Amino acid sequence: MDAFTYRDGELFCEAVAVEKIAREFGAPAYVYSERALLERYRAVAAAFNRYLPTTVCYSVKSCSNVNILRLLAEAGSGFDIVSGGELFRVLQAGGDPRKIVFAGVAKTADEIRFALDRDVLLFNCESEAEVLTINDLAAAAGKTAGVALRVNPDIDAHTHAKTTTAKKENKFGIEFERAKKFIAAIAALKNVVLRGVDAHLGSPINTVAPYALAAEKLLDFLRAAPDTLTHIDIGGGFGLRYHDEEPPEFAAYAQALSPLAAAGKRLIIEPGRSLIGNAAVLLTEIQYVKTNGEKTFYLTSTGMNDLIRPALYDAYHFIWNVKTALPPPSRLFGNDLAPPAGLSPVDVTGPVCESSDVFAKDRLLPPARRGDLLAIFSAGAYGFSMSSNYNSRPRPPEILVSGNRYRVIRRRETYEDLLRGE
Ligand SMILES: Cc1ncc(COP(=O)(O)O)c(C=O)c1O
Repeated sequence: MDAFTYRDGELFCEAVAVEKIAREFGAPAYVYSERALLERYRAVAAAFNRYLPTTVCYSVKSCSNVNILRLLAEAGSGFDIVSGGELFRVLQAGGDPRKIVFAGVAKTADEIRFALDRDVLLFNCESEAEVLTINDLAAAAGKTAGVALRVNPDIDAHTHAKTTTAKKENKFGIEFERAKKFIAAIAALKNVVLRGVDAHLGSPINTVAPYALAAEKLLDFLRAAPDTLTHIDIGGGFGLRYHDEEPPEFAAYAQALSPLAAAGKRLIIEPGRSLIGNAAVLLTEIQYVKTNGEKTFYLTSTGMNDLIRPALYDAYHFIWNVKTALPPPSRLFGNDLAPPAGLSPVDVTGPVCESSDVFAKDRLLPPARRGDLLAIFSAGAYGFSMSSNYNSRPRPPEILVSGNRYRVIRRRETYEDLLRGE
């Protein structure tokens, strides 16, 4: 069941009217549904485990609030991390280090030592030099580290230019044939063991074909790999419905990867967006309605510092009034469709001094006035976690709804917070 629904013209998150939250904590505010997140986690784990033994390692970067991580840790999730800071968060959340995979192209010695000390499951290595460094640091620490080679399979996953990762020209991974040749060199190292192979293809990927192709390549890699290799990590990138996309079901991705079962290894998946993306909205309050010639602007309290995806990736976020007499929205209201009666095109923008501070252009929306609330949907992934204090704007609170209860899982920042550390 959808966690965000309209009842009598008013938006609810689970059993809570989101307006109540905005009136109590102000807007902007991120509002998460616990149920939506956990349903997606359980759905992905069940779909993949039907085809092959799979560990879900939630991608922390997509939304890293420690309370969100705790919910997932309690549900049994592992974690995909990319920094010492993310490792710290996961440990604070009670995450199991033996279900942590540590990715990232430029891990520092301090980060590697921290992860060695906590015995994380895998270091996903992106260069030969990184493997050698981990070997040296592990020797100094008297440890043996499990490493996976992140291969660059040279697959075009047809994502946005800024979120593609698996083409030769991207900085990620080791060129496929070179990685195979490097296997022998790893065997000679005393303090690392080759335990995995990894290929994250980009994000979001709304077809299963790139995964099927990657499975073939990974099977080829495995033919050259030693028996110590126990894990195949296919990364994340599963699609999400922001607008009118029709991303495959988790089961379809799992089926595309099912040939990997023949290898008899454990699969790791690193979903972020597909779990948390549609589990949150970002509430915003209209400060002014302004017209300039033909154009109407809803000037809101939310800026690109709070949600940067539209400015960074031209990302589409469905937006709708929190309260409106107009019928409950369908995400299919694209500009190419005949406008339903009562809507007119507006630009929804923020207060930041950048012309890219725009959430929607010429979007058909119901009438609104100063003080009205809008909901920016699908804001859970790469929303708060990519926010900043640009323009010296304190960051919004994060509120977690569970049934008819809600609690602040991160308070709104204050002006004093802005100066902390300066
Ligand atoms: C290595 C790696 N794994 C997993 C992810 C998560 O991707 P998504 O949130 O699209 O599932 C990313 C995202 O960039 C990534 O770089």
